[in-house]
Amino acid sequence: MKISLKSGEELAMVLILAMLIILAVVLLITVINVFLVIKRIEAKHKGVITEPFSFKTWWKSLTKAVPVENEEAILLRHSYDGIRELDNHLPPWWKYMFYATIIFAIIYMADYHIWKTSPLSDGEYQQELATAQKEIELYQAKNAAAIDEKTVKLLPNDPKVAERGKEIFSSKCSACHGQAGEGGVGPNLTDEYWLHGSSINDLFKVIKYGVPEKGMISWKATLKPNEIQDVANYIKTIGGSNPPNSKAPQGVKTDSTASSTPVALL
Ligand code: HEC
Repeated sequence: MKISLKSGEELAMVLILAMLIILAVVLLITVINVFLVIKRIEAKHKGVITEPFSFKTWWKSLTKAVPVENEEAILLRHSYDGIRELDNHLPPWWKYMFYATIIFAIIYMADYHIWKTSPLSDGEYQQELATAQKEIELYQAKNAAAIDEKTVKLLPNDPKVAERGKEIFSSKCSACHGQAGEGGVGPNLTDEYWLHGSSINDLFKVIKYGVPEKGMISWKATLKPNEIQDVANYIKTIGGSNPPNSKAPQGVKTDSTASSTPVALL
């Protein structure tokens, strides 16, 4: 539990609340005492001898139910078509619960709205999101090494993936493929023509194993599987960007959304 008092206003609120709680407790004790005293005086007047404590007396004190044979005493005078009404007390167990809810409400308000020690729904949601995010990262880190050309995923909605991919591309690939992927020693990666297929699986495979005899090195020793996935995803994002000085197309025209490997023209 962390209690932080950021401003004088909050401090004043806390003080007021503390005073209110003390007042409520004092009031409650006073009321209970008054009731007890009244009961004792009544009992004395009636000459009732208080019974020794037992389960039966305890149960009776909780319900305060008037026995059927004594109901005449609490019968109200009015009669509606012969229907008469009993003036029963609220059962004490019910009243105690009601008092308990008042105390609970004060504690609840202090906890959630004044000291803000417990988060509200929105805060809880954000906390859950944060833990879920951590779990995802942990899971991804654990599974990063397991990604291969069959399990590689197209992640167009994750800007972080393309961002990391872009970094790798600029530092490791742009020397041969151009800063913007327009091509150089290596082929243009922004057009619709591909030598080895355009699906995410094809891209992963060619980056992982390379085409050593044609000058494209294998990156599996340098890049981790998840990094290859990132850079393959980045290549997907630059498709159709048509950068200046684009190299002439090589290979076959392939729908960039195709997922199967087309026959490569070598
Ligand atoms: C030393 C130069 C060089 C570097 C560095 C290089 N490539 Fe290549 N890349 C090539 C060449 C050359 C080819 C064409 C291979 C062929 O003719 O089959 C190629 C082909 C490719 C292809 C297949 C293109 C197609 O049309 O099917 C992809 C995808 C690719 N590279 C991605 C990358 C990535 C990603 C990197 C960085 C991690 C990278 N390359 C680094 C030279 C390079």
